[in-house]
Amino acid sequence: MRILVVETREAAAVVVVDRIADVLRVHPAAALGLATGGTMQTIYDELVRRDQLDLLDLQDVCCFLLDEYVGLDAGDSASYLETVRRALVNRTRLPATSVFGPDGSAVVLDVEARRYDQQVTQSRISLQLLGIGQNGHLAFNEPGSSFQSRTRQVDLADETRRANSRFFTGKRSVPSSAITQGIATILQAEQLVLVAFGADKSDAVKAALEGPVSSSVPASALQLHSHVTVVLDEDAARELQNR
Ligand code: GLP
Repeated sequence: MRILVVETREAAAVVVVDRIADVLRVHPAAALGLATGGTMQTIYDELVRRDQLDLLDLQDVCCFLLDEYVGLDAGDSASYLETVRRALVNRTRLPATSVFGPDGSAVVLDVEARRYDQQVTQSRISLQLLGIGQNGHLAFNEPGSSFQSRTRQVDLADETRRANSRFFTGKRSVPSSAITQGIATILQAEQLVLVAFGADKSDAVKAALEGPVSSSVPASALQLHSHVTVVLDEDAARELQNR
């Protein structure tokens, strides 16, 4: 595992997008795994900048979302699919038809989760972007999630709903469940890039990277993968012993 601590979020975005550019140089039609959340916005801004300057080209890329809320109407602006459309599709050459996610409005969610798991598995993700929750969650795999877990419907932890209420009109409008790629599904990607900013992530980062590998800290599963890059700002890294 490589841990890089950088001074600014913009510098972190440069490091992360350099990784993506390296992948695209070899595989212009690579499958990329996208995360959502505030942290990724800076990364996507840098991706947009490079696509617009023709420093990389997202035209042939396929993108797969980690997770999606259950119960939002198709096209709801808070859905992760819409978030990625706003952040990337509307601003780059990435075609809308090349972005895939689990359908949180499916009638039979178990069937949809299994379908998406197969799609992700068959697509062989080259690089998976990841954020981390303050409680150590990975995608929407909340503490207690099995490392063998596959894509499935999950209940969201109270603290996750509280943290994500900033994207809604208050905590009560945050869905209480989601479809998320499982931890085993995520670990299939060829390489993982975890990004975390801010002091409120520092305990989770410490537990994930330096604590025991345990389902009580889902992101500690990263310690089991052979190709992981972690990009942190100083605040997120402040509890780490080994940097
Ligand atoms: C959500 C997503 C996660 C993400 C986390 C961190 O809960 N499901 O995939 O890692 O938020 O988000 P933020 O970057 O907003 O702190």
